[in-house]
Amino acid sequence: MRDVGAYPVGLRLGGRRVVVVGGGQVAQRRLPALVSAGADVVVVSPSVTASVEAMVAAGEVRWERRRYREGDLEGAWYVLVASTDPVANAAVSAEAERRRVWCVRSDDAEAATAWTPATGRTDGVTVAVLTGHDPRRSAAVRDAVVAGLRDGSLAAPAHRARSGGVALVGGGPGDPDLITVRGRRLLAEADVVVADRLGPRDLLDELPPHVEVIDAAKIPYGRAMAQEAINAALVEHAKAGKAVVRLKGGDPYVFGRGMEEAEALAREGIPVTVVPGISSSISVPAAAGIPVTHRGVAHEFTVVSGHIAPDDARSLVDWGALARLRGTLVVLMGVERIAAIAAALVAEGRPADTPVAVVQEGTTAAQRRVDATLATVGRKVADEGVRPPAVIVIGEVVSVGGAVAELAQATGALAGGLPDGGSGGAGSPAGEDAAENAAEGDGTAPRG
Ligand SMILES: C[S@@+](CC[C@H](N)C(=O)[O-])C[C@H]1O[C@@H](n2cnc3c(N)ncnc32)[C@H](O)[C@@H]1O
Repeated sequence: MRDVGAYPVGLRLGGRRVVVVGGGQVAQRRLPALVSAGADVVVVSPSVTASVEAMVAAGEVRWERRRYREGDLEGAWYVLVASTDPVANAAVSAEAERRRVWCVRSDDAEAATAWTPATGRTDGVTVAVLTGHDPRRSAAVRDAVVAGLRDGSLAAPAHRARSGGVALVGGGPGDPDLITVRGRRLLAEADVVVADRLGPRDLLDELPPHVEVIDAAKIPYGRAMAQEAINAALVEHAKAGKAVVRLKGGDPYVFGRGMEEAEALAREGIPVTVVPGISSSISVPAAAGIPVTHRGVAHEFTVVSGHIAPDDARSLVDWGALARLRGTLVVLMGVERIAAIAAALVAEGRPADTPVAVVQEGTTAAQRRVDATLATVGRKVADEGVRPPAVIVIGEVVSVGGAVAELAQATGALAGGLPDGGSGGAGSPAGEDAAENAAEGDGTAPRG
């Protein structure tokens, strides 16, 4: 393995002229980072991709709509050669050498005087990796380091005061992959985790032994006092200086009592961070192959709690109004009362043959979907022994996408991962420019 032979450095390009020769896919990938660095970017190319053109229209970069010509590097600090014209590329390199401007070559790493590392950013840290000969490895190392920093598996404590307080973290519907990056990082930094029954409970197994995990459902004081007891536990641990995560299912503010907890903490002067989560109201239907909206079918979806029966005086839901809507109705906490809910909707005018899907334990290994209509759902749920937690979807969208759902069932595609087993964006090669050449080919990058 040969030595990288490069001296790593972070260029501060703010307000400095950077010339990009070529307007194809390589330029398109590199431009956002140059713009973020505040560089004064000029793209020289007879044509550019639609994305580059959008950046020009937004005033983020300037575009000289022509071929490169001698003198373009006047005043430049840095040049990126990203055209598919080898003669032009060599000419730019030669001018860069004469003017002592660092020059990156997308077509020829050896002819370059600078290499672009595979970079990633997380929580104020920039990771840059060079291997000099193996951009895919650079990208893989970058991905591993960034992922480790994000999920806390790579221990790199920040040398700054911890903010303390409580993080209300939306854990998503249950699949541990469906928590946000921020939620996962805060979980990895926690001293105390107060967890609900719903949500990504598998993640609790990964916590180091010193972390105190409190099952919110088992906090003593009896059922009526449960929320007060949870609030008290959060306050007590935060006041003891612990980093506390309140891990909740779905999103903390969707039928999650998140604001009650935030207010209780605020009253005690304890700082609260809220990390939104993927709500089961949308993700569970999606995992079962149901889009909550679909062009030409539903222009709205309404999420409603079914924890109080329609004829109960305490209900705040206008079931008559919901029955008159044509779009999708998503009912949470409604399994026990679905017969009464369906009857109320039909009585108020929603057609009895409206399709209904009940999705139990969505996004987990135990996920199952039961299909019915408003007329039959009460009986079917009882006959098939459907139990909470389940999301009930009512509307024509239930019948959309049958082929996709079938295929997904067969391949497991909706349960996670890409259908072809690919690794997705995080693993896509984004290493040194030299190796991009092979991937770019001739067709995509315009001649510059
Ligand atoms: C108290 S609510 C909390 C909702 C949560 N905050 C959210 O945004 O998803 C609990 C209800 O969410 C639904 N739910 C949550 N996770 C679910 C899952 N994995 N599968 C099916 N339903 C789920 C069920 O209707 C359950 O009764």
